[in-house]
Amino acid sequence: MSQGETSEAQIAVHWQEEDYFYPPRDFVAQANLTDESVYDRFSLDNFPNCFKEYADLLDWYEYWDEILDTSDAPCYKWFKGGKINASYNCVDRHLARNKNKTAIHFVPELEEEKVEHITYQELYVRVNEMAALLRDFAGLKRGDRVTLHMPMSAELPITMLACARLGVIHSQVFGGFSGNAAADRIEDSGSRVLITMDSYYRGGKLLDHKKKADEAVAKAAQDGQVVDKVLIWQRYPGKYSAQTPLVEGRDFLVNDELKNFYGARVEPERMNAEDPLFLMYTSGTTGKPKGCQHGTGGYLAYVTGTSKYVQDIHPEDVYWCMADIGWITGHSYIVYGPLALCASSVIYEGIPNYPDPGRPWRIAQNLDVNIFHTAPTAIRALRKIGPDEPAKYNYKFKHMTTVGEPIEPEVWKWYYNVVGKGQAAIVDTWWQTETGGFLCSTLPGISPMKPGSAGKGMPGIHPIILDDEGVELPRGAGKAGNICIQNPWPGMFQTIWGDRDRFVTNYFARYCKNPDSKDWRDWPYMTGDAAVEAPDGYYRILGRIDDVINVSGHRLGTKELESAALVVEEVAESAVVPVKDDIKGVTPDMYVALKPGFEASDELAQKVINALISEIGPIAKPRKVWIVPDMPKTRSGKIMRRVLASISNNTDVGDVMTLANPDVVETIRNQVQK
Ligand code: WT7
Repeated sequence: MSQGETSEAQIAVHWQEEDYFYPPRDFVAQANLTDESVYDRFSLDNFPNCFKEYADLLDWYEYWDEILDTSDAPCYKWFKGGKINASYNCVDRHLARNKNKTAIHFVPELEEEKVEHITYQELYVRVNEMAALLRDFAGLKRGDRVTLHMPMSAELPITMLACARLGVIHSQVFGGFSGNAAADRIEDSGSRVLITMDSYYRGGKLLDHKKKADEAVAKAAQDGQVVDKVLIWQRYPGKYSAQTPLVEGRDFLVNDELKNFYGARVEPERMNAEDPLFLMYTSGTTGKPKGCQHGTGGYLAYVTGTSKYVQDIHPEDVYWCMADIGWITGHSYIVYGPLALCASSVIYEGIPNYPDPGRPWRIAQNLDVNIFHTAPTAIRALRKIGPDEPAKYNYKFKHMTTVGEPIEPEVWKWYYNVVGKGQAAIVDTWWQTETGGFLCSTLPGISPMKPGSAGKGMPGIHPIILDDEGVELPRGAGKAGNICIQNPWPGMFQTIWGDRDRFVTNYFARYCKNPDSKDWRDWPYMTGDAAVEAPDGYYRILGRIDDVINVSGHRLGTKELESAALVVEEVAESAVVPVKDDIKGVTPDMYVALKPGFEASDELAQKVINALISEIGPIAKPRKVWIVPDMPKTRSGKIMRRVLASISNNTDVGDVMTLANPDVVETIRNQVQK
């Protein structure tokens, strides 16, 4: 982090170490993993061979011959020589014993609409037909990239699995993102096909989603990437339900075209283990999102292993992860991991509090969900608006997950006592888009839980905390530093799409002592988070150390937000800082200074908000836009975000006398803290 910036870690809540909670006995009795020797089997001495256990959870066309190839470190190849298909592993291989089992429960947001229960056999049929359409109608083939901009729907995993069947690399963009945000990802990935849906429900309203496809295609064309086909699923099959008209020769209704492929079967491609499976874009320290490239064999092995041992998924479980499939959590822990294990995975279209805060618990009751997975931001919101709702419904969770941001011990205890009714094991899983699967968590059948702490490194994941100079902090010291992972693991991303240099610079350069080394020991992975390790080896994550803000568990790059504000012509400068928030964890405050000749007004502040929504999406909406006379700056002209963050968070701004314009600090403080 550069001097003068601010970080989440600096405003982090430093709560006390809490006492242990022990997993319920009936949970342990049925858990997939209760053998504590797993930590020995996955010790650093047994690295990398330990991960054979995960690979063996999958079906391979050809078994691999080299577990880890480091010859191009830090771009690693896992399970080299292996041939595998992810779609086969998530669908076909379950048919022999479980074809009539529900693979996907799709729950529409409107409660009066029917829940769809898709069996593994039906999933197989629909994935094959879609794969045939993608191949024969859209002309897609192995290695091509395709952008998906789809809402929560059964058609989303069907499309992903159809791509995986063909070896087409999917890049799903979160449905709530704007057309402009989709365009950047279309352009970066070089997609000539965009797959979307006409509409979807959110908060009781049917949104016109196809409109965003038009924006995305137009903007991508400006940036030099031509999309020649837009494939549109219908929210109501057979009925087009968006206002935006179809573009002749470019837009095609999937539900119509599919009729030509009814009954089609597509042989899965025998992919190399290291071939890319998908791209997932995430925010970084520059304005341009990074396409995290995930491989096939390593990724699938890692999410399957962690779904089995941390999510404790058995084939008879009904598993509901409330995340959006447009984020990595949904890819790994709604689609690939649970389906590889033959679970029934719930996909809910809408928002948790529609039409009332009892909704999630009604869904749980009606579908007999026994594994539940969500983020602290949702838990905080449900606790605030419906603290007594869970007790009204008859469901029993054996297991619950929290993911995406630090969870306050108070909120954790509500989750445990009220949502879990004191009967569920909880895991707090810390990980990232880049890491494919969990990095730190307790093992639910083995370890006690500690509210507010993620837990130890996962089996085979060996964290260390380094100071700014790269010196390792003593183990269990309870001191904050930069948490890194010493070793590679199969779920780790392979590179940033098309930008190996950025991959190396962003994640490894700071702590790599020998950039020519082919030894993984020389390449600790820098996560970008600050953390402390307690004497028991549990990690508490404090937040980002870089220019990334984690709002409601979603990553926003401050540079992305700042450059979106600069789209407004009156704005001369912009600066974004994280502010503590009761529901969202942190939320951005946006400071802007105007060009000469313009006056501050509420309309102008609204214009900035609108720009953020149209450039990125509603999740980028700041708490407040502050139009200030000038930014606090160093003598060399650098904006002092740290000072702005202190003002926004009502903390001490420290010594500002060395600034070029110390007087403005008082002016801004009066404006913000009035
Ligand atoms: C950042 C990654 C993990 C998938 C969803 C978010 C923060 C994630 C936790 C947790 C504290 C957490 C970190 C991380 N984070 N999980 N359990 N406790 N912080 O993926 O968008 O790539 O964000 O989320 O700061 O770096 P992402």
